[in-house]
Amino acid sequence: MPRDLSEMLPPYRIKVVEPIPFPTPEQRRRALAEAGYNPFNLRADQITVDLLSDSGTGATSAAQEAAAALGDESYAGARSWFRFRDEVRDLTGYRHILPVHQGRAGERILFTSLLTPGQICISNTHFDTTHANVTLAGAQPRDLPCREAADLDSTAPFKGNIDLDALERVLAGPEGHRVGLVLITITNNGLGAQPVSMANLEAVRELCRRHRVPFFLDAARFAENAWLVSQREPAYRGWTPRQIAARAFQLADGCVVSLKKDGLSAIGGFIGLRDDGLHAVCEANLIATEGFSTYGGLAGHDLERLAQGLREVVDPAYLRARAASTARLAQLVNDAGVDTVQPPGIHALYLNAGRLLPHLSPHEFPGHALGCQLYLDGGIRCAEVGSLYLGRTDDQHRLVTPAPFELVRLAIPRRVYTDAHLGYVAAVLADIAKNPERVQGYRIVSAPPLLRPFKVRLEPTTTAGAAG
Ligand code: F0G
Repeated sequence: MPRDLSEMLPPYRIKVVEPIPFPTPEQRRRALAEAGYNPFNLRADQITVDLLSDSGTGATSAAQEAAAALGDESYAGARSWFRFRDEVRDLTGYRHILPVHQGRAGERILFTSLLTPGQICISNTHFDTTHANVTLAGAQPRDLPCREAADLDSTAPFKGNIDLDALERVLAGPEGHRVGLVLITITNNGLGAQPVSMANLEAVRELCRRHRVPFFLDAARFAENAWLVSQREPAYRGWTPRQIAARAFQLADGCVVSLKKDGLSAIGGFIGLRDDGLHAVCEANLIATEGFSTYGGLAGHDLERLAQGLREVVDPAYLRARAASTARLAQLVNDAGVDTVQPPGIHALYLNAGRLLPHLSPHEFPGHALGCQLYLDGGIRCAEVGSLYLGRTDDQHRLVTPAPFELVRLAIPRRVYTDAHLGYVAAVLADIAKNPERVQGYRIVSAPPLLRPFKVRLEPTTTAGAAG
């Protein structure tokens, strides 16, 4: 039998394209300086390859656009709503589905309806908006990642898992009565795109049942988690990604989902619930703040794109090709001498900037410095996940408590960039890795009191070096 080489290919070809800009080195240098050395402040037309986020940045399919043309924009009870609801219900099994315009809207509605001030929300890792929305609801977010997650080089298959012993200790301990929710993020975006095993989810369910605490999923990347389970968890070999995802949803009492990722659309999200009482409270909140419960801030054409996207995203050929593409990028980057969080996940690659740039202390934000260098050298935009994002600073904006790691996230939009684009990114990184000492550090010039990464402004700590 000849080998099946179709695995090497994504299961689509490109039908509509968009030009990408190629600013000159001088234009990039000026653009970054004007942006206060914060890539968030760059204009998209100053960027050659944009790896800032995989959220809402994917390409849609011809079938999605065809469905969008059928969008029913009736204020209430639109056809498109029923198509979306049935698709989500079929996948998740939840009785109640509430549409929202994006994940964080769902978080706000769920947490303000479910949590009371003073309660604790436990997670493998809260995403930053999730963390913020738990806090805004008056509750206290607490992360209990598994131990392997702290070893960036470990190739343990499920480093997204929650630490079950630590979870049980809290639930059975003196603070147990304060735990209002256990929320598992699949995949664990805050910790290297690592998946959560089904065995871990099953154990969380048991603990939550025993201690009568609601168990929810933050399932923004439910299909990618399911693919990694199908590849790494022997008990689920032979299951389809859709079957695995459905089983994960079945284990939980409900979910909050940003559909800007695995919904393969620019906008959207939903809350899934079994509990009638909680649904009634969330629905009232939804109608007051997002829109009527048959559109939740989304247009009919969005609901159509999402319903179709949810079918396409669980296609094994699509998931296999996407995982393989990220793995190839990881290989190229590792071969060039840049370490990444192991093993590679799917939606992003996390570069170990702390290790690549030992000449920069955390006070000079090595992750941010590497991100800026990728822009200066190659017009590539990405996001720091290190001390600039997670560290604590004093009122002079000096770093007081560094983050545990200095990482850079290269997020990979879905169906947007080819291996040629990713090969280019690896080549730019390889050039930096040949002479890493030329990467200069940064200091904060001004920062907002909340959500620092988005509006912070910085400057290089020295004028010599590579930025020129
Ligand atoms: N949960 C997770 C795990 C996320 O990664 C995100 C968003 C959200 C919730 C919030 O969803 O953006 O639709 O409101 N993550 C994006 C990212 C922004 O770049 O990782 P949203």
